[in-house]
Amino acid sequence: MTQSTQSAIRNPQSAIGIPSRIFLVGFMGSGKTTVGRLLAERLGRRFIDLDEWIVERAGKSISQIFAEDGEVYFRQLEGELLRDVVKEPELVISLGGGAFVSEINRRVVKEHGVSVWLDCTFDVILKRLGDASDRPLNTSPDRLRELLESRLPSYSQADVRIDAGQVWPERLVDEIMQILRC
Ligand code: S3P
Repeated sequence: MTQSTQSAIRNPQSAIGIPSRIFLVGFMGSGKTTVGRLLAERLGRRFIDLDEWIVERAGKSISQIFAEDGEVYFRQLEGELLRDVVKEPELVISLGGGAFVSEINRRVVKEHGVSVWLDCTFDVILKRLGDASDRPLNTSPDRLRELLESRLPSYSQADVRIDAGQVWPERLVDEIMQILRC
């Protein structure tokens, strides 16, 4: 976890001018949807939560998709809808916690905009998630920790990293806008 380091632009080239699409990535409970919605409001842009699109397209909840169709199917749908969503310009998009783990999805994101990783410590995540049953991968604290650690190498490939643990969402939006010069 890089919580103690400063938030950083990892790909300064992509941070010049307002990016056409801003993707929020990071683990479950890192605040992607809340921050994404606020950021979109501030920029006067449309906000898309990829998980909501999946639920709409599948006609059932994410827990149901996992239980009835399996995670592999969910990941296929996630990738397909991501490729659909990026056809539109001027968006703020929050991705589910596993979407940026796929190399193909990362490439799609890179080609279509700037990615912002909301980086949170495990303790913050655990506190926020509790035993929330709407997240099928939240089966135990040990499993969550393992999952988070296994995903850090993927999240760290985002263009921008923000310390998202202890700060109010509005402040995170300020910080993102400042870094992206929006
Ligand atoms: C997942 C995170 C969830 C959702 C699904 C799988 C993951 O999204 O896509 O439950 O693999 O981390 P949030 O990160 O918005 O909770």
